[in-house]
Amino acid sequence: MLSANPATTEGTNRGLLLELSLTGVPRGRQASALITRLRDAVRGGSLPTGTRLPPSRVLAEDLGVSRGVVVRVYEQLSAEGYLTARQGSGTEVAAVPRQPRPVPLPPARPSSNPGLPAGAQFPRAAWLRSAQRAMAGLPDADLGYGDPAGYPKLRAELSAYLGRVRALIAPPERIMIVNGFGQASRLLAEVLAGRGIREIGLEDPGSAGLREQLSGAGVTCVPVPVDAQGVRVDALADSGVRAIVVTPAHQFPTGVVMSAERRHALLTWARGTGGLVIEDDYDAEFRYDRTPVGALQGLGPDVVVYGGSASKILAPGLRIGWLAVPHELVSAVAAAKYAADLGSDIWAQATLADFLARGELDRHIRVMTIRYRALRDRLVAELADRLADWSVTGTAAGLHMVIHPPDGSDEVALARIAQQAGLDARPLGGYAVRGTGRPGLVVGYGHLRPSAAASAVAEMARAVNG
Ligand SMILES: Cc1ncc(COP(=O)(O)O)c(C=O)c1O
Repeated sequence: MLSANPATTEGTNRGLLLELSLTGVPRGRQASALITRLRDAVRGGSLPTGTRLPPSRVLAEDLGVSRGVVVRVYEQLSAEGYLTARQGSGTEVAAVPRQPRPVPLPPARPSSNPGLPAGAQFPRAAWLRSAQRAMAGLPDADLGYGDPAGYPKLRAELSAYLGRVRALIAPPERIMIVNGFGQASRLLAEVLAGRGIREIGLEDPGSAGLREQLSGAGVTCVPVPVDAQGVRVDALADSGVRAIVVTPAHQFPTGVVMSAERRHALLTWARGTGGLVIEDDYDAEFRYDRTPVGALQGLGPDVVVYGGSASKILAPGLRIGWLAVPHELVSAVAAAKYAADLGSDIWAQATLADFLARGELDRHIRVMTIRYRALRDRLVAELADRLADWSVTGTAAGLHMVIHPPDGSDEVALARIAQQAGLDARPLGGYAVRGTGRPGLVVGYGHLRPSAAASAVAEMARAVNG
């Protein structure tokens, strides 16, 4: 009998027969079903190494299938290495490492981000129309491996869009398509490392995710303080780093807009030291008190790498971002992108190109600006009403705001209370390497429903005021 003992010619053991049973399997699928079952039995250990399988005739009879089916199955599994056919001694189970029972993995850690856009407002219908047109119109040749720097049509559309909306100086040849700013930062770190630059300045406070990502890539992240005008260029110069990531349009997380004076000082630093400025323009389209201030790159296309992303204006799940790169770095960044993944998804790129060409992105941003402004205004008003000794800092922009409880408050405890009340709130200190000087909460509101915003503040105020 089977298991430890060789199979007999009288029949196959009952346990195995049950495991392999093909009852109800349509004729045409019997062979593939038997292959799967036998493979699983070998991997799972119910057929240990060395077990002799019944002759094909016997197993065929026991399972009620034609002998040809079993012969084909034995041949296939012998070719794959699960079985060994020995001349004169039949077919036996080969030495296959037993697969341990799958242990449930901890859930993958989603990016912790206080600036999520409103998923429910994603323009699905318009995006689908663009996706359909894009796929219908893609020449066969474009379904091959494309230019790792990105789909030419999208680069041309972005060049026009960024010139018009963000005042960039970026011809299509200098636009690169990436899988979000997250990938862009890793590619740039590699390119800089290739030039001997392994230290990168990051604003402090700044994006904890970016710090983590760059540290993971072996970069030494050097904190450079931020004040009410943006990053402190004097401290940057003192730090000795030769590259820095900044968020001039809406400093993350403080919400400060970099002053004109600081912009000039930063570009002077770059030109004077051969330094590189990486501009993270993550949410600049959303400005509620005036027209967004143009990108720094427009003043220094020779020393600024501009990074933009679909993550705030559309959805982070799309994983699409773009860079505008100084001429001398174009080839190196394209080579890094090629080494990373050979290039981004052509359908998504062609879809975004169509979406841009038809004005859909402009339309969506107009609609969302109205919604986000109303949400922010509502939160600010509710806070003023219910937590009068708290303050709001930062420009009216983007998808998050910073609120400050009275000095001496425990921001970690308050963040917990705010979360329980339904607000996406995190302690400001979590974004700082050298402390922030005063307690604060970073509150993401992009994905809140307006009615939920008001009730969340009311509930938080009740808990805070006792
Ligand atoms: C400061 C900052 N920069 C950039 C991004 C965008 O990153 P990505 O394009 O990889 O989604 C985010 C996303 O939340 C962010 O908070």
